Amino acid sequence: MRCLEDDVDHIMISTERLQERTLELAREIEKKTADYDDLLLICVLKGGYIFLSDLSRALRRPHIVDFMGVSSYGGGTESSGVVQIMMDLKQSVTGRHILIVEDIIDSGRTLKYLRSLLLGRKPASLQICTLLSKPSRREVEVPVDYIGFEIPDEFVIGYGLDFDQLYRNLPYIGVLKPEAFK
Ligand code: IMP
Ligand code: MG
Repeated sequence: MRCLEDDVDHIMISTERLQERTLELAREIEKKTADYDDLLLICVLKGGYIFLSDLSRALRRPHIVDFMGVSSYGGGTESSGVVQIMMDLKQSVTGRHILIVEDIIDSGRTLKYLRSLLLGRKPASLQICTLLSKPSRREVEVPVDYIGFEIPDEFVIGYGLDFDQLYRNLPYIGVLKPEAFK
């Protein structure tokens, strides 16, 4: 059997650190949304699905979840700069408090696009939570309310993040061996 772990060069963020930080983020979100009578978590697919499921279970306040399919990468490790909506929300966001849940902010293009798209639908408020951020790669500014970890400019996989659709199921954030990119 081919084992995905064999392609991993090293672990950048362990499962334990991810769990701890997700709990801290949930407590922060509870504080900052305490006055909201509703909250809609918008999971940005596919990368956000593992983080969303842990974050949602860590949140003690009432909330609902919905999913949006977005594609910004052509299949390699560099953003194409073009954001495509592959699947839209099932819920209306008009008049609702929404929180976008994203795996990683790299250039910022995906979130900038999503944010203005969703603001156009007139939510009551809009917040953004990202598990990872690569500040040194930012090309456009986006206001982010919650950041799990700031990481250096390295391509990472696991915990929802992929290379060519693989490695999303690894339970940590890791860096691939150079030969795995072939
Ligand atoms: P941005 O539009 O450049 O901010 O790119 C955001 C999207 O690119 C993320 O939602 C990811 O899907 C993908 N991405 C950026 N950096 C990485 C990485 O290091 N590993 C895997 N996917 C990444
Ligand atoms: Mg993503």
